[in-house]
Amino acid sequence: MLYDLTKAAHLISLFVWIGGMVAVALALRYPSLIHMKPLKAYDRAATTPAMILALLFGILLGVQGGWFTSAWLGMKILLVLALSGLHGALVGRLRRAVWESSGEAKSGGGRFLPTGLVLLTLIVLLVTTKP
Ligand code: HEM
Repeated sequence: MLYDLTKAAHLISLFVWIGGMVAVALALRYPSLIHMKPLKAYDRAATTPAMILALLFGILLGVQGGWFTSAWLGMKILLVLALSGLHGALVGRLRRAVWESSGEAKSGGGRFLPTGLVLLTLIVLLVTTKP
């Protein structure tokens, strides 16, 4: 029961984290539609805490389930580090957009969404198939 609840918390935090990353990636891609400042505040208030919670609940699941000796979890953690790095890169671009102008950014960052999708796909495949 506790394990299932931890997994639910892991997944809910993940949805908030990934949703926030997609919002920033879209804002950088189509900057004329969205002002960056509120998005930066949202990232600080929701997306980054959700990322930290997702990682903490993931670690808790690993401990509770005794998964830390499994190869799939090692591979997953490497991909998770890459996903966290992608989040850091997105936030860096967002901060620059807020500093450089009145909250608008030049259109760019078209690789963020496909890169994130590939990482997400690999992580979910690893955790579901556990090779
Ligand atoms: C420090 C980082 C992380 C650790 C240690 C971790 C660990 C775990 C563990 C041990 C499970 C339970 C596996 C099971 O009971 O079968 C799990 C479930 C899951 N994790 Fe993570 N995780 C982390 C981050 C992530 C990230 C970043 C994602 C997606 C982007 C993710 C996606 C999932 C999914 C979809 C499940 C449910 C799989 C299922 O029930 O079949 N995890 N995680």
